Amino acid sequence: MAYQQLEHPLISHKLTMLRDKNTGSADFRLLVKELASILAYEASRQFSLDSIEVETPLEKTKGETLSGKKVGIVAILRAGLAMVDGALQQFPNAKVGHIGLCRDEKTLAPVQYYLRYIDKLDLRNLLIVDPMLATGGTASAAIDLLKKKGAQNIILLNIISSQEGAKNLIHKHPDIEGFTCAIDPGLDKNGYIVPGLGDAGDRIFGTA
Ligand code: URA
Repeated sequence: MAYQQLEHPLISHKLTMLRDKNTGSADFRLLVKELASILAYEASRQFSLDSIEVETPLEKTKGETLSGKKVGIVAILRAGLAMVDGALQQFPNAKVGHIGLCRDEKTLAPVQYYLRYIDKLDLRNLLIVDPMLATGGTASAAIDLLKKKGAQNIILLNIISSQEGAKNLIHKHPDIEGFTCAIDPGLDKNGYIVPGLGDAGDRIFGTA
């Protein structure tokens, strides 16, 4: 698996604002959306193109359009919801599925509580969106579910990952691709990424 950390001044800037505990929910949501859009843009770098002819108001010329597989977005509830609109900015016609997985507070193991797939999983480039990759357990469980349903081209998009989570994911799913904006060094005893940004779901939805 190729799990890459993106490097770009805009990403660093937005990420720093996102980490700041004084950033309120409205700005936080906007920043998550903007970073998700950048991640989705980067994820499509390998997508194939078809050559076509296009007619401008002046003359005919050659152009290129995305070809091959359609895109599907799969949001891991609940924090992944805030990344959906950003990914849709790049792929407005993508269908969106949802996987509800929460962490058991004691074991930190993922527990499934909601599942809504999109059709033709095997024929799509699937972008899984979840801002935080902590232990990697939730993302791995979501990937397992999608693979069981036939998904083959899976790209995971995270905003902040822990070193441990990235390592676990690469070990468990060496065949998928992933992009993240940052890989942080630690996890605290409650499974939060350190330094991280706190609880992404709470910061997105203004809950405590
Ligand atoms: N989920 C979060 O929202 N934050 C973390 O740091 C880890 C998991």
